Amino acid sequence: MLADKDRIFTNVYGFQPWNLEAARKRGDWDNTKKLLEIAPDDIIQTMKDSGLRGRGGAGFPTGMKWSFMPKEPKPGKPNFLVINADESEPGSCKDREIIRHDPHKLIEGALVAGFAMRARAAYIYIRGEYIREAETMYAALDEAYAAGLIGKNACGSGYDFDVFLCRGAGAYICGEETAMLESLEGKKGQPRLKPPFPAGAGLYGCPTTVNNVESIAVAPTILRRGAAWFSSFGAENNRGTKLFQISGHVNKPCVVEEAMSIPFRQLIEEHCGGIRGGWDNLLAVIPGGSSVPLVPAAQIMDAPMDFDGLRALGSGLGTAAVIVMDKSTDIVRAISRLSYFYKHESCGQCTPCREGTGWMWRVMERLREGNAEVEEIDMLQEVTKQVEGHTICALGDAAAWPIQGLIRHFRPELERRIAAKNGGAAPMMEAAE
Ligand code: NAI
Ligand code: SF4
Repeated sequence: MLADKDRIFTNVYGFQPWNLEAARKRGDWDNTKKLLEIAPDDIIQTMKDSGLRGRGGAGFPTGMKWSFMPKEPKPGKPNFLVINADESEPGSCKDREIIRHDPHKLIEGALVAGFAMRARAAYIYIRGEYIREAETMYAALDEAYAAGLIGKNACGSGYDFDVFLCRGAGAYICGEETAMLESLEGKKGQPRLKPPFPAGAGLYGCPTTVNNVESIAVAPTILRRGAAWFSSFGAENNRGTKLFQISGHVNKPCVVEEAMSIPFRQLIEEHCGGIRGGWDNLLAVIPGGSSVPLVPAAQIMDAPMDFDGLRALGSGLGTAAVIVMDKSTDIVRAISRLSYFYKHESCGQCTPCREGTGWMWRVMERLREGNAEVEEIDMLQEVTKQVEGHTICALGDAAAWPIQGLIRHFRPELERRIAAKNGGAAPMMEAAE
C-alpha cells in the first residue's frame, strides 16, 4: 500500500477544509515563488524525467507535450493552457474529488505549468453538471487572486498569469480537447481534425496545451520532491502515483491514490474490501472507464494497473476508472447501455460515428434480447471495425471497443441468448476465456 508520506492528494476525502489556509497547512503554495525561479525548460525537463503520462486517459507524456509549446510566443499569439475538467467518462470521478477538496493544488499547478510553457493564462473547462465543484473553484480562485498568488505579479515573481473558469453545458464530446477549444471560443462543441495539434493551433488559433486536472495538480509536488521521487513508483514507462476510482460490485467503492502498476487484486483487497460475494463471484472488469474493453475475471486478477499492462490484455488504463462487475451483472445489457451512451453523445459530424453508433446500439439491443441471428455477431464485429479508426475523434473508437471486448470474451453468452430465444439450452453466463 502506498505510504501516507508518498500521497500527493492528502485531502481526497475532504476530511479537512479545501480553503487556502488549510491548503497551505498541507504544503500547497509553499514558497511557490522559488518554483518560478527555475528556468521554464528545466521545469519541463523535470516533468519529462518524472515519467508523468497524461492522466485524462490517453497517457501522452506530459513533459513532452509541454515541450511542444513555442519558447518565444509571437506578438498577438499568446500561449494558453487549457485544463480539462470536463470529466464525463462513465466511471470517472477523480477530478471531481480534486476540485472539491484540493482546488488549490490545481491552481498552483496551473501557475507552474503555465509558467513553464510561457502561457499568458489558463482556462479551466469544468463539466456543467459539476455545479458545487464550480462554486468551490470560483471561491478558491478568488482566494488565490486576493492573496496575490495568481494575477499580476503572481507570487511576487514578476510573472502575470490569469486563471479563468468556464462551465460546460452537459455535452460529453466537449471533453475531447479540440471540441473543448471550440466550446471555449463560443462555438458548437465539435472536434477538429488533428493535426494540427493544439500546440500548433489551439485556442483562438494560438499555441495551446490541453491537460487533464490530475496531470496539472501533481506538477507542484513533482517539482518540490523531484522527478526521481515520482518515478520511483510504478513500472518502466508507467511511472508515478495515480488516483484510481473503483466502482461497481466491490464491498467499498472508493477513490484512492496508489502507485501505478499495482496489481488489480491488491488494489481491490487493500482499498475496497474485496469483491462482493468473494473473488469467485467476479465476472469482468472495465479497468479504465467506459471507453476501454472489458477484461474477464481470470485475466485481470494479477494484471498491473497501468497503461502497458492493460494494453497487453487488449484493454487500457484510460482514466483508471475501474468498473467491477460480479456474476449478477447482465453483461450484454451493460455494454448495450454504454452503446446507447455513445450514440447519444456522438456530435454527428462524421458518418461512421453518427450512423454507426446508432446502428451498433440497435443490434446490441437485439442481442440483449436474443432477438437476432448468430451471423449478426460477426456482422456487428465488422461494423465496429468500420467505425474504429475512421472518425475525426476518439469517440468512434470508444463506441467500438466495448463491443469488441464483449464479443471477444462473451461470445458464448451472445449465442446462448439467441439459442434461448429460439427454444435452445441456456447455460450459465461465463467468460469464454
Ligand atoms: P490522443 O491520443 O489523440 O491525444 C492525447 C494527447 O496527446 C492530446 O492532447 C493530443 O493533442 C496529444 N498528442 C497526441 N499525438 C500528438 C502529436 N503527434 N503531436 C502533438 N500532440 C499530440 O487522445 P485523446 O483523443 O485526447 O484522448 C482519448 C482518451 O481520452 C481515451 O483514451 C479515453 O480514455 C479518454 N477519455 C477521458 C474522458 C474523461 O472524462 N477524462 C472522457 C472520454 C475519454
Ligand atoms: Fe463527432 Fe463522433 Fe466524429 Fe467524434 S467521431 S467528431 S463525436 S461524429
